Amino acid sequence: MKLGRLNHIGVATPSIADSIAHYRGVMGAAKIHTPFDMPEQGVKVCFVDTPGAKGTYGTQIELIEPLDAASPINGFLEKNPLGGQHHVCFEVPDIAEARAEFEAMGKRILGPTRIGAHGTPIFFVHPKDMMGTLTEIMETPREGAHWSN
Ligand code: CO
Repeated sequence: MKLGRLNHIGVATPSIADSIAHYRGVMGAAKIHTPFDMPEQGVKVCFVDTPGAKGTYGTQIELIEPLDAASPINGFLEKNPLGGQHHVCFEVPDIAEARAEFEAMGKRILGPTRIGAHGTPIFFVHPKDMMGTLTEIMETPREGAHWSN
C-alpha cells in the first residue's frame, strides 16, 4: 500500500443546510457544490472545496446527511448529535490492487468496491482494523473527471 492524496474528510451532519451556512459564514468557504442524493448509500452529499495548488482543488469536506430512517449514518448521529468527522478518504492509483493489499494484511473491507460520490471506485476499511478511523480508499480521479458543477 502506498499512501496517496487525502481526497476528502467525510463529516456527518444532521443538516447539510446548516453545515453549508457554517462553512460559508464562519469558515469563509468560497466553493460549495450543489448537494445531491445518493439513495444507494442512504445519504445526501455536499462537497465543500478547500483551495489547492494553482488550478486545482484541495482536499474537500464531504458533508453527509441521512436520507431516511434506514441511513447507515443514523447510528453515528445518535452518538454524535452535532455531527462530526465520520471518515477520511485517501486516493490510490489502482483500486483493485489496493483492495488486494488490504485483504492480504487481514483488514476487514466493508462491502464490495463500488462507485462513490466522485464517480470513481471506492471501498471502506473497518475502523477497528484502522486505529479507530473509518477509512475510504478511492481510485484517483482522472484529470478533469472529478465530479463538479
Ligand atoms: Co467519502
